Amino acid sequence: MKIIPLELKENSYEILIGNQVLDSLPKKIKALKLGKDAVIISDKTVSRLHGQRVAKVLRDEGFVIKTFVVPPGEKSKSGPVALKLIEDIARYDVGRKIFIIALGGGVIGDLAGFVAAIYKRGIPYIQVPTTLLAQIDSAIGGKVAVDLAVGKNLAGAFYQPKMVFTDISFLKTLDARQIRNGLAEAVKYGIIVDKQLFVYLEKSFQDFLNLDEGVLQRVVETCSRIKASVVSKDEKESGGLRMILNFGHTLGHAIENAAAFRYHHGEAVAIGMRMAAHISVLKGMLLQKDDQRINALLSSIGLPDSYAGLLKSQIIASMNHDKKFIAAQNRFVLARSIGRVEIVSGVEGDLIDKAIKQFKK
Ligand SMILES: NC(=O)c1ccc[n+]([C@@H]2O[C@H](COP(=O)([O-])OP(=O)(O)OC[C@H]3O[C@@H](n4cnc5c(N)ncnc54)[C@H](O)[C@@H]3O)[C@@H](O)[C@H]2O)c1
Ligand SMILES: [Zn+2]
Repeated sequence: MKIIPLELKENSYEILIGNQVLDSLPKKIKALKLGKDAVIISDKTVSRLHGQRVAKVLRDEGFVIKTFVVPPGEKSKSGPVALKLIEDIARYDVGRKIFIIALGGGVIGDLAGFVAAIYKRGIPYIQVPTTLLAQIDSAIGGKVAVDLAVGKNLAGAFYQPKMVFTDISFLKTLDARQIRNGLAEAVKYGIIVDKQLFVYLEKSFQDFLNLDEGVLQRVVETCSRIKASVVSKDEKESGGLRMILNFGHTLGHAIENAAAFRYHHGEAVAIGMRMAAHISVLKGMLLQKDDQRINALLSSIGLPDSYAGLLKSQIIASMNHDKKFIAAQNRFVLARSIGRVEIVSGVEGDLIDKAIKQFKK
């Protein structure tokens, strides 16, 4: 198993990555000394596919397991669902000392992490990510949240897990759309800091889509290392560095929200990255041939090349609601080249307009 340390002083933890490594989960948890009372939070789909096996390997090693299951999908990342979970957990948690295991994709990771952060002002939790997006992105870095009616992730915290346990064999049951969705974030890492990764994805994306284990392992590991490195240098997005992870997300989130989640996160981000690259070209920062390469890779993966059914005004309104965008005074992450981005303030409205128009179906 590969071990990637995430250094954050007293909040440091390890990201463990392997293939068919579930049997070693109990030992790894025991080493953390969190006690034996584990509460698994999962969604119905993941629970049906993998929940029993996870519970069994833990029970076989002496853990006491209680599982709470929520419906799959973004709608579960809500205040009411979180509070209901907390009530249920509190009723169960009498005379125990529990910790939480988030078993699922980004929705479960964000929701269970949020519950762990606020229940009794914080109890330990572990991330066991089961989607590609969660394995390479959302499970790492301690951003936990639920959505509010006015916007995504508006109630949340920075609350680090005690461990991220990534088994790439979970990805075998994921459908192709979810794999493509996660790959959008891998392309993002290539663009922001790692040209070699980008080139590797150009060469190997088909093997990745076919779930070739060697390729999966390499990409998941490379991306996890990048995320860990950025987070360790800027845990709370205060120094600006962590902001580079938002490449493609300013407009991507706006599309995701405005379209009321018709697009998956990675799909919306793919369109957002195309727009950010386009703005970068208009600003004279990025060569047209690099912009074409970015678009070509996203298209070969099968990620959307345009959006439909949205007005420009809806996307702009949604962008202006974005907490980061407001706080950061119209700041965009723009590309200089593949592997290098810059944070640019005060991007002209007409360039944003042009980018939004360019990718309308
Ligand atoms: N905290 C962060 O830093 C961060 C970063 C990026 C995204 N996010 C959040 O992550 C969420 C999206 O995450 P996601 O794309 O993983 O969505 P998700 O958790 O909804 O999972 C997608 C679907 O895949 C199913 N699924 C999960 N694992 C499976 C498996 N192994 N086999 C078969 N089906 C499986 C789920 O039931 C769900 O229907 C969004 O809410 C987004 O805001 C958070
Ligand atoms: Zn993202």
